[in-house]
Amino acid sequence: MNLRRFAWVTDPHLNFVDLNRFERFANELTEQPIDGILLTGDVSEAEDVIWQIRRMVEHTGKPVYFVLGNHDFYHSSIDLVRSSVATSCKADPRMVYLTGAEPILLSNDWSLCGDDGWADGRLGDYHRSMVRLNDYQQISDFAGLSPAIRLPIIRRLGLTSAVRIRRQLEIARHVSRRSVVLTHIPPFREACLYDSKPADDNWAPFFTCHSVGWMLRRFCQRFPEHQVLVLCGHTHHQCVSLIADNLVVWTGHAEYADPKVNAFLDLAHLDLTAPAAWFNGQAPTSNGVVRPA
Ligand SMILES: [Fe+2]
Ligand SMILES: [Fe+2]
Repeated sequence: MNLRRFAWVTDPHLNFVDLNRFERFANELTEQPIDGILLTGDVSEAEDVIWQIRRMVEHTGKPVYFVLGNHDFYHSSIDLVRSSVATSCKADPRMVYLTGAEPILLSNDWSLCGDDGWADGRLGDYHRSMVRLNDYQQISDFAGLSPAIRLPIIRRLGLTSAVRIRRQLEIARHVSRRSVVLTHIPPFREACLYDSKPADDNWAPFFTCHSVGWMLRRFCQRFPEHQVLVLCGHTHHQCVSLIADNLVVWTGHAEYADPKVNAFLDLAHLDLTAPAAWFNGQAPTSNGVVRPA
């Protein structure tokens, strides 16, 4: 297998997109030759998420490798959506749901891992935060629960994601030198930019998955010869964070009703040690964040 050219999309929120815009978006996905599409969540909402992914497959003729975002569970429950999506994907090998799956060996060099992730309330000040996500009304797992009761639930969601990604990476490092990890929630504050600043204590609990970040940092310290590129979304604000020499996190920009290709990636030519070069040589700032124009 030698899959190396991908279109990456995050947060397309296709339930806000009319047919004309969808067709333009599908055409943009194949403007360059690609082997597949990488999709990092907030595809739509529960009732049509799999229909939207199938529509992307059918319009482009390319496989879609994906994880789900918090909006993809709206009007249903997390377990129900995950299990029905996994069942649909078993019937169509062109739709590949990475959460809970084995890592995919893309080439001799690269593996593909992924997990939905969850904003796990561990960074920032969860108890004093004024942020109230719609998730807590729209996803049945949280409906009617107080913030104190919700906290152990979101912590467990983040932790189980970290455990599953860790397992995937353990396999991946034996068969390849590099891994792409798809996840919806930025795993570090530095990857969660708003108004050009990392998320403050008010926002960080709901925009970062610290369990995944902690695991990734440890994994990359223990295995410095293995390089990891994380692609994520959720904040709708683009930034690239150089967390360690072998760990780069790229958070994608998005706008409602205007789905876009975040990047065409050719993994054979992506130098993780110099991500500034991906953006016309713009140097990282002192806190390790590249802010592409
Ligand atoms: Fe989103
Ligand atoms: Fe999101």
